[in-house]
Amino acid sequence: MEAPRYPSHAVSFAHPARLAAQAMQRGLRDSFDESFHYLELGCGAGGNLLPLAARFPEARFTGIDSSADSIAVAEAARSTLGLSNLTLIVEDIRRLEEASPHDYVVAHGVYSWVEPATQEALLRSVKRALAPRGVALVSYNTLPGWGVRGMVRDVMRRAAAGEQAPRAKLKAARLMLTRLLRQSAEDHPYAALLRAELSLVLGKRDGYLLSEYLGEHNEALYVADFLERAAAAGLGFLAEGAPATADGLLELGLEQDAAERPLGERLTELDLLSYRQFRATSLCHAEARPSPLSQEPLRERGYLSAQLTPMSREPLLAEGEELSFRADTGAVLASTSALHKASLWCLARAYPEGMRAAELVSSALQELRERGLGEQVQIAPEALERLLDDLLELVRRRQLELLPWSPKVARRLGEGSSPAALTRLEAAGGVVTSARHHAVELSPLHAELLQLVGSAPAHQVMDTLRDLARAGELRLGDDERAALESPEALAELVGAQLRASLGLGLFPAS
Ligand SMILES: C[S@@+](CC[C@H](N)C(=O)[O-])C[C@H]1O[C@@H](n2cnc3c(N)ncnc32)[C@H](O)[C@@H]1O
Repeated sequence: MEAPRYPSHAVSFAHPARLAAQAMQRGLRDSFDESFHYLELGCGAGGNLLPLAARFPEARFTGIDSSADSIAVAEAARSTLGLSNLTLIVEDIRRLEEASPHDYVVAHGVYSWVEPATQEALLRSVKRALAPRGVALVSYNTLPGWGVRGMVRDVMRRAAAGEQAPRAKLKAARLMLTRLLRQSAEDHPYAALLRAELSLVLGKRDGYLLSEYLGEHNEALYVADFLERAAAAGLGFLAEGAPATADGLLELGLEQDAAERPLGERLTELDLLSYRQFRATSLCHAEARPSPLSQEPLRERGYLSAQLTPMSREPLLAEGEELSFRADTGAVLASTSALHKASLWCLARAYPEGMRAAELVSSALQELRERGLGEQVQIAPEALERLLDDLLELVRRRQLELLPWSPKVARRLGEGSSPAALTRLEAAGGVVTSARHHAVELSPLHAELLQLVGSAPAHQVMDTLRDLARAGELRLGDDERAALESPEALAELVGAQLRASLGLGLFPAS
């Protein structure tokens, strides 16, 4: 039998530090303690739990799923990795009597996809298992945006209705979508929306289509209705983990009339305006009564981070010269202020680690001094406060992240450096978990490299990659194929892939 593969299913918004940040911003907690208890309901094969359990050895994790097959796969990986802080249990949410308090309770990809009795049991289980100041996260498909997707789902289910086998159902549904895409009218806004949805579905993997579009249950609901059901279970709204917009502007606008209008009404309006189809809503005990949103608790103690690329070869840090950075969100951040530019420069260099505000300011000033630009900068307290305010505004605009935690990663590779055991295991499945808990898909060559590096001298690793490619065992991109033709080009490609791996934090800090 072929060994099971463990592609990462890291759910970035279910990271405990992100949930702790939400609790801190609403006054429920004042710090992030790494010896937390974390429960995942419907954990599948543990794709989210395994990387967390490996990263937080002091914490305790429990995963529950009704599928014995999925739990067996997760258990095999847990035992291969020797993770003693993870307990995996085969159980149905409807029969769950879990009562011990957990700081974080997560149910991702479950609520919309089960029948009403399980939905109700899920919210009751969350309530029972949540510590008094704990944070729960439940994801679901959202109306009105999912209405359009639901229309495509209905068409697919009708097309597949006459088929029994999953493969035949997929074939019939895909055929129908391809035909619709070919026939869609050219120049109408509705046709443009429909084409976008059809193309999106056609680009998805079979397994996803089978559950999301062809599965029996998929209830999309208005956020106001979801919050009503949560309230009936004794849970209240805390925060939202899946952003509606890339720059947060729409959300900020709606926050301004927060006092005047009911929450459910405002959030539903936001979903309509942003064509949102999915939510990952954080909940807390209704009795916990969170305070209004404030970044103050994280201002001093949080770590700022951003994946930024300077858009100039030479960093133009002198006062008055414009320098732009491209963020991983696609946004471009431009500034002419020496202190602001040096701060973004330091954040870019530190990524995937984050920096505390005080450390960031002193690194930025040091950077400027080293470049002989020290006198250009005002280090008056007001200037530093303004810098911090501007950086926090970038956090609100989703260009920077502010968390009560930062990963520690290797900054460079030494002789015999190898990725974390989990990364090797995940790389065999082609998707790895970054140090900041994002699932990252790798090219087959990159995935193979991560399984080999550290196990043999560099020249042998490259020989093996070349042999595998020549034997047709690696699907290569055009650049990769060209690089295999010369040892220098291959060494350069491997070097670039290893730098990218360092940038993802895949090598543990020694
Ligand atoms: C789409 S998967 C999501 C898996 C995982 N949370 C993730 O994000 O990768 C949904 C999971 O919920 C589990 N599930 C569905 N109904 C359940 C129930 N009544 N009790 C426990 N688990 C259930 C399924 O077995 C499946 O593993």
